Amino acid sequence: MTKSRPPDRPEPAPGATTRALIDIRIQDDILRARQASRTAASAIGFTTVDQTRLATVVSELTRNALVYAGGGVCRVLTRLTVQERSVMIEVEDQGPGIADVTGALTRGFSTGRGLGLGLAAVRKLMDDLVIETCPGRTLVRTGMTRRR
Ligand SMILES: Nc1ncnc2c1ncn2[C@@H]1O[C@H](COP(=O)(O)OP(=O)(O)O)[C@@H](O)[C@H]1O
Ligand SMILES: [Mg+2]
Repeated sequence: MTKSRPPDRPEPAPGATTRALIDIRIQDDILRARQASRTAASAIGFTTVDQTRLATVVSELTRNALVYAGGGVCRVLTRLTVQERSVMIEVEDQGPGIADVTGALTRGFSTGRGLGLGLAAVRKLMDDLVIETCPGRTLVRTGMTRRR
């Protein structure tokens, strides 16, 4: 059987539920994605502080997709296990890719007009961060996990 998922793409986290899928084309979509992340986080009992952290992360990642790739898609997923609850954010675009990932994760590094704090902040606020990138595709996947 052929797999529809390319081999370079991570499998969705086992047991994850997709809570929202937002196309990112215009500025307003960033607000919709932010709100979706808050709603999902609230639904599994995350504190308002964590909801705000997630909304910040979603802002940064979707803005990057919009600015550097002309748009993309944002997926908000949740996962509940006996011991943990997680919100995962995946932002994917079909832009030029990130040439220097290590640089991009460094505070103050920007190829645009930004402050270069976005990805560095995401790494700090979240529990894990994976960036898969090549010319034509960037996927940023990041998660926040809390004990139940
Ligand atoms: N989706 C993306 N596609 C291509 N390049 C990106 C993407 N996201 C981030 N980058 C690159 O990483 C750099 C750092 O991003 P970030 O930390 O958000 O800072 P800023 O957006 O302020 O420049 C950007 O300047 C850009 O070069
Ligand atoms: Mg940015």
